[in-house]
Amino acid sequence: MSLFESFKLGSTTELKNRFVMAPLTRCRAINNIPNELMAEYYQQRAGAGLIISEGTSPSPNGLGYPRIPGAYSDAQIEGWKKIADAVHAKDGKIFVQLMHCGRITSKLNMPEDSQTLAPSSIIAAGEMFTETGMFPHEMPKAMNLEEIESTQNEFVNSAKRLVNEAGIDGIELHSANGYLLNQFLNPKSNQRDDQYGGSVENRTRFVLETAQKVVEAIGADKVGIRFSPYGEFNDMLPDYEDLEQTFIYLSKKLAKMNLAYIHIVDQRIAFGAPAFTTDIKNSIKINFKGTVITGGDVDSEEKAQAILSSGLDLVYVGRSFISNPNFVEKIQNKENLMAPDMETFYTSGDKGYTDYV
Ligand SMILES: Cc1cc2nc3c(=O)[nH]c(=O)nc-3n(C[C@H](O)[C@H](O)[C@H](O)COP(=O)(O)O)c2cc1C
Repeated sequence: MSLFESFKLGSTTELKNRFVMAPLTRCRAINNIPNELMAEYYQQRAGAGLIISEGTSPSPNGLGYPRIPGAYSDAQIEGWKKIADAVHAKDGKIFVQLMHCGRITSKLNMPEDSQTLAPSSIIAAGEMFTETGMFPHEMPKAMNLEEIESTQNEFVNSAKRLVNEAGIDGIELHSANGYLLNQFLNPKSNQRDDQYGGSVENRTRFVLETAQKVVEAIGADKVGIRFSPYGEFNDMLPDYEDLEQTFIYLSKKLAKMNLAYIHIVDQRIAFGAPAFTTDIKNSIKINFKGTVITGGDVDSEEKAQAILSSGLDLVYVGRSFISNPNFVEKIQNKENLMAPDMETFYTSGDKGYTDYV
């Protein structure tokens, strides 16, 4: 079980090691189109076993932050093809994270003809940054059944185009950190009284239907999903009565679909979230049985090894991959890591982006 040996993800994707570059929004996609600078950034980090891209919107309705990429127009798909080619040229693998922000947005970050959609018409606490300052989140429209179906189809179309036209290795459904899919799972943002709200079965329906449709379109081996149990980021309720039951139910259903992996964000570390009240990572692993990724503040071989020793399969690394493009090599050679500059996490241009060595 070496961190530095290859790992078979699903039946199609061979990873050269067990380190996963975590999805990291970096706001360099001018006009929401992936570009050459981003191709260079991802190519520099192709030493990861798997790169999971920054959150990428499947629709104009899903754009939340300024300068995040999309995967719904021809120009965006062409941009993703350049990135896939750049990563593959260095023998790397890349999944694109599909992130529909739902209610975590400002109109100022969205095109004019778009709509802010969410399970219920409940505004999220907090503010969104825009090119002209901070603004309260947008009041969302509660999705009707037609909008539920058309939004699921947007995920399907993006997934198909990314894999078939751009040559991306797979996609990750972002069902964590308070974005649209997570908004359906969480009782604070989902107060629907139809078949998409209330019970565990109903609150998980949107996520499971979306996963099933994407699996039918591109194959289960190319689909992963990210969850953040006990997370409170973006105005989520961190704990609720049937939380453990929710994730056990999801894990069992996703196991039946043969999904490539479940990716668990540990918000206790980077986001300062409260303690877990159950052994949720283990419950997910036992019920899913397939590949599970987790991490949080991994900056040494020992911390990464502890994750494998706990029975989980792959280790995600976020901030350390920002400032150490050759992170895996540095860990293997026991070299010191460079600390990231937070000031340039979300700025535009190459500073704090492609200039780390
Ligand atoms: C600048 C920045 C951007 C992030 N963007 C995303 C994102 O687009 N999607 C996502 O799922 N998580 C995102 N995260 C969370 C990271 O994937 C990761 O879970 C977090 O940084 C903790 O890992 P670390 O301690 O190794 O940094 C982001 C974190 C940071 C610091």
